[in-house]
Amino acid sequence: MYTTIATLLPLLALAVAAPTANGPCRARKQTYVAKYDGLPFQEPGPNPIPPHYYGLGYTTFQIDQHDHFIPPTSGNQWAMAFGGSGNISVPDSPPKQTFQLESLSFACVSGVPQPECAISIWGWKASAKVINRVINFPSLDPGHLVGGYIMNKTSFSWEWRDLKSVGFSIARADNGGDMYGGLALDDVKYTLNFGC
Ligand SMILES: *[C@@H]1O[C@H](CO)[C@@H](O)[C@H](O)[C@H]1NC(C)=O
Ligand SMILES: *[C@@H]1O[C@H](CO)[C@@H](O)[C@H](O)[C@H]1NC(C)=O
Repeated sequence: MYTTIATLLPLLALAVAAPTANGPCRARKQTYVAKYDGLPFQEPGPNPIPPHYYGLGYTTFQIDQHDHFIPPTSGNQWAMAFGGSGNISVPDSPPKQTFQLESLSFACVSGVPQPECAISIWGWKASAKVINRVINFPSLDPGHLVGGYIMNKTSFSWEWRDLKSVGFSIARADNGGDMYGGLALDDVKYTLNFGC
């Protein structure tokens, strides 16, 4: 009797571990820093960011190159939402994926001079909870040398996890009016969670 059960156990374990043709699903995490360099860029555009660049899909954001006004933090390309708003999301399939947003470089790009810019950032979580944060990019005044302007950088708290999507939108910080410009992001660091 005992011998029979002992012989069966390894078989049962195998059956449980391999429920599908693709084998068992293992939850895992992977951290990326999206720099957008080396992605094909041609003028005239559009230059969409290919799906799914380091695991994420981009709405509105395009690949754009250094305009000799504000340099990208790394390399010569960044992600640009020309109208100032766009989303970055995990694909719908496989369904259990989420990401944690860790840090990014950002700039509002309207030319010089430009007013102080308020960037609203939303996080849509797998739980359907929505979180929100506003960061500012300073006003730019004339009189700086080329290279005198740089992107700013921010980190995100632990609250910015279990995300399905993040959205961005820009407005004038002083009166909520239109910036008439774009939002550039670079070195977007996040951790993808491949859940089961
Ligand atoms: C971003 O995603 C939100 C929520 O799904 C949606 O309401 C909004 O229209 C999207 N924005 C863009 C620019 O696609
Ligand atoms: C933020 O950007 C402005 C404009 O480029 C720059 O003058 C400033 O030094 C930056 N601040 C930081 C902390 O990087």
